Amino acid sequence: MQTSKHIFLIGFMGSGKTYWGKKLSRAIELPFLDLDDLISSKVGKSIADFFQDSGEAAFRNMEVLALQEISRLPTPHIIATGGGTPCFFDNLEYMNKSGTTIYLKVSPEILVARLRSETNTRPLLKATPADKLLQTIQELLKARETFYTKATFTIPQIDTSDDILPLLIQVSNRL
Ligand code: S3P
Repeated sequence: MQTSKHIFLIGFMGSGKTYWGKKLSRAIELPFLDLDDLISSKVGKSIADFFQDSGEAAFRNMEVLALQEISRLPTPHIIATGGGTPCFFDNLEYMNKSGTTIYLKVSPEILVARLRSETNTRPLLKATPADKLLQTIQELLKARETFYTKATFTIPQIDTSDDILPLLIQVSNRL
């Protein structure tokens, strides 16, 4: 694989950052890392438990430290970030400086279908009743798109069964 840069996958919860990150990693033979997994191993508990015990501010502080630690790795990696990572501190600029960002753009309707059964393990959606899920996701996505759309590349998934791997490979080969 030619790239000498990290590839950061960014996007909303349920946009497939980990799923596609692992597939891309195998396809272009670059190691894969998941930012939430690193945070979880640092704090010794799940992200959901850490949120509950210490609150979002503590999580965001751990997140920025973990992001900077990963970014300092001397060899390129494919990194799945958390849905909020680009939206706090100067994380997005930081990622764009230490590598390339790819936004996995998914519609609120598809996100609802994917996240409906997982709200219990998603701290930011835990308190949202099923009939308010679409509205909550639409609002949060709208606020976050200010950041997501500053990614170097955007890959939309129009349909939930879209295979975006060829596009991801194409983009990675251009770096
Ligand atoms: C978050 C998304 C989660 C995780 C945390 C906060 C967010 O990651 O980092 O629960 O703010 O959107 P995923 O996008 O991998 O679910």
